[in-house]
Amino acid sequence: MAKLAAVLGLGAVGSTIAAKLIGNGWEVCSADTRENPEREFDFIEGSSRKHYAIPALADPKKADILIITLKAFATGKAVRPLRNRFRPSMPVMLLENGMGQDAAVMDVFRVNPFYLGVTALGAVKDGNTVTLNADGKAVYGPRSVNAGGIGKIKDLPESVFCFEENPVPAVLRKLAANTVINPLTAVLDEKNGIILEKAELVRRLTDEISRVLAPLGLGETPDSLYEAVMGIAERTRENSSSMREDVRHGRPTENDFILGFVIKTAERFGMDVPELKRLEAEFLRKAGNAA
Ligand code: PAF
Repeated sequence: MAKLAAVLGLGAVGSTIAAKLIGNGWEVCSADTRENPEREFDFIEGSSRKHYAIPALADPKKADILIITLKAFATGKAVRPLRNRFRPSMPVMLLENGMGQDAAVMDVFRVNPFYLGVTALGAVKDGNTVTLNADGKAVYGPRSVNAGGIGKIKDLPESVFCFEENPVPAVLRKLAANTVINPLTAVLDEKNGIILEKAELVRRLTDEISRVLAPLGLGETPDSLYEAVMGIAERTRENSSSMREDVRHGRPTENDFILGFVIKTAERFGMDVPELKRLEAEFLRKAGNAA
């Protein structure tokens, strides 16, 4: 029998994950509890275009996994109605930009094995069309002790999901990339490729970020973090970052869970981060003007 994945958040990343799971023999349902949770979209990858219709999740107890791919600021409110609906042994995976929202998810799914991950999928959503520009895997690993005991989740397609015993360094590396790329591309109102032309500024920012995130388990030197961030900017150079798009459309942004999270962490540790604070001030000016 096909395995069933419940996906909460069928945006660019959630739809890509859904399309890939279906392509690998899974069934996928929408775990959204609002009215009309079902979603339809076209998924374009290279020269192929396929249409997907994702139904609402009829029986949460039948789900084999819940994958959460929302905006960080929307996560807490969206997961609350899901409390006690799923089997306590079902794995829950959070695959989002930013940090800090995992506490709200763990609070709702206290006994479920909880996994944290990041995606490097260069996917964009325009209306009901999702286009995958740069293929990349979702790296995930255990966040709760019981997930640590279970380890790798059975039957997830390895072409999409890559298991790591300790997902924290990958999550923090992605957070570092988002901390530089997202606000800067929003301020400059340019695609990600512009980051490649800002080498000195990126170096100053990654120096500060590597100091702040080191105690959380980043495991990168300032040089290797700079290279990692530039690598992501290069691979996604044709993308318009999610934060730039949010500012352009006057939508709420994930700043509190990305740059804001890193600055708050620095303050908690008593560290000085003048470059990050300058960037946040410029970003807030821009986002305020856009709203
Ligand atoms: O938020 C985003 O847009 C993405 O995480 C990234 C990696 C910056 C690519 O655009």
